[in-house]
Amino acid sequence: MFNYTAFEESKVEFVEIAPTSEIPNGERLFVELGDKPIVIFNIAGQLFAVGDVCTHDDGPLGDGVVEGYHIVCPRHGAEFDVQTGKAVQMPAVIDIPAYPVRIRDGTVFVGLPKE
Ligand code: FES
Repeated sequence: MFNYTAFEESKVEFVEIAPTSEIPNGERLFVELGDKPIVIFNIAGQLFAVGDVCTHDDGPLGDGVVEGYHIVCPRHGAEFDVQTGKAVQMPAVIDIPAYPVRIRDGTVFVGLPKE
């Protein structure tokens, strides 16, 4: 599973997403990068990008409620840590992908694994 806490710079390609103003504090932005649905959260001024599909049963994870640094799946209540993608609450046991986020000159970039 791709995880930004362990990514190697040479294996990541940063893709331009949007101006930072499009993801204000407490908001989220949905994007599709290649075939990957991704949701970017702004939590207390920090941006986190994770896969937008719950690993339990493909629920629309990004539609869920944010509790601290956890996103709660709206379907059956699984929770994931948006900082790492780690599944932290049943019924999900498989992590979701977490992607590195960078901000340059007021623009948000998300790092994807190079093919
Ligand atoms: S689909 Fe997310 S908890 Fe079941």
